[in-house]
Amino acid sequence: MITVRVPLDDRSYDVLVGHGAVNELAALLPVGARRAAVVTQAGIPLDVQPGVPFERFEIGHGEAHKTLATVESLCRDFAAMGLTRSDVVIGVGGGMVTDVAGFAAASWHRGVAVVHVATTLVGMVDAAIGGKTGVNLPVVGGVGGKNLVGAYWQPSGVVCDLDALATLPPRELRCGRGEMAKYHFLTGDDLLSMPEPERIARCVQIKADVVSGDEREGGRRALLNYGHTLAHAIETATDHAVAHGEAVAIGLVYAAQLARHLGRIDDARVQQHYDVVGGAYELDTSLPPGLDPQALVALMGLDKKVLSAGLTFVLDGPDGVEVVSGVPAEAALAALAAMP
Ligand code: GLY
Repeated sequence: MITVRVPLDDRSYDVLVGHGAVNELAALLPVGARRAAVVTQAGIPLDVQPGVPFERFEIGHGEAHKTLATVESLCRDFAAMGLTRSDVVIGVGGGMVTDVAGFAAASWHRGVAVVHVATTLVGMVDAAIGGKTGVNLPVVGGVGGKNLVGAYWQPSGVVCDLDALATLPPRELRCGRGEMAKYHFLTGDDLLSMPEPERIARCVQIKADVVSGDEREGGRRALLNYGHTLAHAIETATDHAVAHGEAVAIGLVYAAQLARHLGRIDDARVQQHYDVVGGAYELDTSLPPGLDPQALVALMGLDKKVLSAGLTFVLDGPDGVEVVSGVPAEAALAALAAMP
């Protein structure tokens, strides 16, 4: 078992990585927790035994269920079971489950402890770590979007049981590799050369280092969004037919194309992005067919006001990956045109 510490003063916690890690869950529960509300989905492969009496609540699959209505439903479940502020919520699943369970925990009685049991690769290397929780605001009258309503609410501990990956569908593994490829460019680490437990623990460590220095994304944490600006636009434009990690893979090579267009990196560095994302990580790097470039640029700009002032991206450059604002829409369009 590998333990990675996320150091955040009085909100510090451990992330346990290894086969059978879920058997250590009870040790991560806050002292004094008498009962647990286990929030999960149908079909999650892990048998979770928190070591205290618990009730189990299932939420639906898919982005359509990542809503305030689901949080309200969970809070009604918490009320019915009499969950107190000294009890604990346990989120068991992928990023969607831990985001929703975390937000419900942050809201219930203005904050009850939460422990995450990540069962997907994306959850283990990204979503369950760092305390971002939240739900989508459905688009009504052109207003709304992904993860717009939420809270920073750090878990008391996280379990990454590698046994859960044995039955993970290949597409879900691909999505996890998209986020791992991102870490490759943030650190230069050769993650693929590591054995699986060390590789996942290293990703957790990278994220823990970033989060502990910038919990609320005032600066460096924004670098974790490398490849994500186009990725979010593709997810929205395809109504999530392209999944998050798949879209991040395309967004990483797009960010390289844009950085080259802006004179920040050379052709060889762009080629490295293709070699790593498309080659080593075996991910599709081409734009899905049929997407309107103007619509993608508009989505990347969030609104016309931002668009007229230029767009903001995380881009590679002579000093490494950094946040770059004021990117002209024409440059964003030219980089899209350069995508195969
Ligand atoms: N997934 C990016 C972050 O947690 O900041």
